[in-house]
Amino acid sequence: MKGNTIFFLFCSLFLVSFLEDTGAAQAGTNYGVYIVYMGAAASTNGSLRDDHARLMSSVLRRKENTLVHTYRHGFSGFAARISEKEARSIAQKPGVVSVFPDTQVELHTTRSWDFLKYQTSVKIDSKPNTGNDQSSSSVGSDSIIGILDTGIWPESESFNDKDMGPIPSRWKGTCVKADDFNPSNCNRKLIGARSYDDSADIKTTTTTTTKYQKKYDDSAATAPAKLHTPRDTVGHGTHVASTAAGSTVASASYYGLADGTAKGGSPSSRIAMYTVCSSAGCVGSAILAAFDDAIADGVDVLSLSLGAPSYIRIGLKSDPIAIGAFHAVDHGIIVVCSAGNDGPESESVVNIAPWILTVAASTIDRDFQSKVVLGGNKVIKGEGINFSPLKQSPEYPLIYAKNAKKSGANEAEARNCNPDSMDKDLIKGKIVVCNNVGDENYSAREKISVVKGLGGIGIVLIDDKSSRVASTYGSFPATLIKSNDSAEVLSYINSSSNPVATILPTVAVTEYKPAPAIAYFSARGPSYDTMNVLKPDIAAPGVDILAAWIANDTSQTPQGKEPPLYNVISGTSMACPHVSGVAATVKSQNPTWSPSAIKSAIMTTATQTNNMKAPITTDSGSIATPYDYGAGEVTTSGPLQPGLVYETRTTDYLNYLCYIGLDIDGIKAIAKTIPNDFACPRDSNSDYVSNINYPSIAISKFDGKASKNISRTVTNVGGDGKTVYAVSVDAPSGIVVKVIPDQLTFTKNNEKLSYQVIFSSSTATSLKEDVFGSITWTNGKFKVRSPFVVSSKSGDNDEYVL
Ligand SMILES: *[C@@H]1O[C@H](CO)[C@@H](O)[C@H](O)[C@H]1NC(C)=O
Ligand SMILES: *[C@@H]1O[C@H](CO)[C@@H](O)[C@H](O)[C@H]1NC(C)=O
Ligand SMILES: *[C@@H]1O[C@H](CO)[C@@H](O)[C@H](O)[C@H]1NC(C)=O
Ligand SMILES: *[C@@H]1O[C@H](CO)[C@@H](O)[C@H](O)[C@H]1NC(C)=O
Ligand SMILES: *[C@@H]1O[C@H](CO)[C@@H](O)[C@H](O)[C@H]1NC(C)=O
Ligand SMILES: *[C@@H]1O[C@H](CO)[C@@H](O)[C@H](O)[C@H]1NC(C)=O
Repeated sequence: MKGNTIFFLFCSLFLVSFLEDTGAAQAGTNYGVYIVYMGAAASTNGSLRDDHARLMSSVLRRKENTLVHTYRHGFSGFAARISEKEARSIAQKPGVVSVFPDTQVELHTTRSWDFLKYQTSVKIDSKPNTGNDQSSSSVGSDSIIGILDTGIWPESESFNDKDMGPIPSRWKGTCVKADDFNPSNCNRKLIGARSYDDSADIKTTTTTTTKYQKKYDDSAATAPAKLHTPRDTVGHGTHVASTAAGSTVASASYYGLADGTAKGGSPSSRIAMYTVCSSAGCVGSAILAAFDDAIADGVDVLSLSLGAPSYIRIGLKSDPIAIGAFHAVDHGIIVVCSAGNDGPESESVVNIAPWILTVAASTIDRDFQSKVVLGGNKVIKGEGINFSPLKQSPEYPLIYAKNAKKSGANEAEARNCNPDSMDKDLIKGKIVVCNNVGDENYSAREKISVVKGLGGIGIVLIDDKSSRVASTYGSFPATLIKSNDSAEVLSYINSSSNPVATILPTVAVTEYKPAPAIAYFSARGPSYDTMNVLKPDIAAPGVDILAAWIANDTSQTPQGKEPPLYNVISGTSMACPHVSGVAATVKSQNPTWSPSAIKSAIMTTATQTNNMKAPITTDSGSIATPYDYGAGEVTTSGPLQPGLVYETRTTDYLNYLCYIGLDIDGIKAIAKTIPNDFACPRDSNSDYVSNINYPSIAISKFDGKASKNISRTVTNVGGDGKTVYAVSVDAPSGIVVKVIPDQLTFTKNNEKLSYQVIFSSSTATSLKEDVFGSITWTNGKFKVRSPFVVSSKSGDNDEYVL
């Protein structure tokens, strides 16, 4: 019965906003798309479970065109257009795990949708900055990376199949036909392309449209999703696919910027695209359909650069990504997801299920600088990608927007360059300095179009948040400066009777230091769902990444130029496929490794050091913690030889499912294999979750009095058979960390040995804030590092554990 209670709680939660949104009078009369989730599939050959077939036919008997998707390969269930009352009734039926309204999730390109909409230049990062390791691209890989995204531009040079062998025989997928996409668009690089039609109608089923969401996405509420073709009309999917597995393309650049050889993280891997998103967002029921297909098609890695916005705090049982990923992992597929772009606020990380590899975004050692030169040739550092046609000498009139206030307008609005706040006569022909600090009402893009609209010839935006994240502005001279540097500009304006300046076209500065740093937008831990699984897991390059783009995007094309074939964009969306590429390489080198072993290899070999041999920081300069970057910055060669791996067993995940409130019937429905004697622990508390055999450790409710005893098991995959590992601990002050035993003596390959970690307080007082440390095992050849966090806060976040 527990499952049903949960359903109703959720249902009423969503229903409120649903009614508000539509203004409907009666609950029962609303039809919407609901996802009926029924757990594991009977088989992978597409035959329906009996109860699945019965339930579907009873629903379909009612009327035609009810069914939106059927899930039958990787798991069981369907999406159908039904009433809320019917949804309630279906939730009571045997074999049903959960029923929830279809949801819309977002692409993780950048913080703002308007950025995505206007971005015209993205390109594959040719040189992920990973400190001192060498590229893994020399290592051949024949993995299949499935990507759930906006589709693909198959003609891009990054998807050429030169030198690629025949398609692996295990591949069962297909390339569908659409108006603007032919099966012949696929080749030995792009081996699969599927799309999911429009019928999911996300408009009526969007869960909540908060003010916050509106700020970022005015179009989402009105634009229908167009998922009927694998052809990308946004650019995001093309960019992500080429970052994960694009072929090597010499001299790719964004109009000459960031030029070099473009290649994906795993250039010899294959790509299968599943179109589940449009520019309006991604559809939950389609995401589940894509997981279902990808499992049957035979992908090795799934890469999802999308997720729910952090403010929705979707429960795991109604989260299509968590559900789909669970079954994919159960079928041996590693699932890599972006952490989200709602940082740097705490608890903003999404895609937090323990079976997902969750990726944060870092900067790389390349900076796109567009300098401001003031009268007297004083140079101020600025950030942004523009092809400014202005002369190099500072000869253009410069005005602070506040001083161009229109009569009757508000001074703060004028200072922020808001619409209808400035006097056209004062702006015309000038470079305008606008404040963008603390103004959440209008985006930088909107301010630029306001200034442009009033005849301004350039814009200098004061903005601290976006530092180190360059946006593309085409030919319009636009650049971002830090508020620190703005003081100099403003006092120059103040003290000069005839202030002048110029904005120089962008120069890409390489070997920028320090790098990597965690991007300001990258979503942060701890996880809102449970403090006992440390999230995010890993960081990877996600700022100003050059990768392939759709060939007909004219939205930011500089004057007199063709649309770009490669583009530079930012987001955890761009970080995720870097890790997917690494995972694909690890998988092809170690085909028998489980998804958790691959994840462990990636996490325990991460680096915490930047290119100044100093600790990696956040963009604001503070030393990064595991809440910023999990285990650290991904390396490309380390994961191929991790020495030891932490394998997360099915019972670990089952314990987690108990903890999030599933009863044993629900768990039996979900998990394919379940030990006969498995039962949910009576007191399924957060300590069980801390004891999941995860490559990192997270402890909650640490009161300083009772110690916490955590257990872990490692598997010897170093290949040397007999070997001895010794432990070293980096403990925060006030915490005593004892590892028992402190030496692990392996006698053969693949042997598993366990150890305990006892956390106690040296002060017997509770912690004022969460503290971090690490445990490292080494045998002289390999270093196997696990970060940990100790918190005094409650790990049971009942509000969200639904
Ligand atoms: C699919 O698998 C099930 C169970 O393994 C079997 O009973 C059924 O005959 C198979 N169906 C087909 C079409 O192969
Ligand atoms: C943003 O808009 C709100 C509501 O219109 C207004 O109260 C607030 O002052 C505005 N903020 C800025 C920085 O202009
Ligand atoms: C401005 O610079 C000072 C001194 O370098 C520094 O302490 C401060 O954090 C900076 N502020 C911002 C907003 O960058
Ligand atoms: C500009 O000058 C005025 C008057 O001299 C002064 O009050 C103000 O603080 C100055 N502003 C800046 C940004 O220097
Ligand atoms: C780009 O081409 C695709 C496919 O032909 C088309 O659907 C799309 O509307 C085009 N976009 C633009 C901006 O022209
Ligand atoms: C920690 O827990 C393990 C497993 O429950 C147990 O074997 C071990 O004795 C405990 N260690 C301590 C120091 O309590």
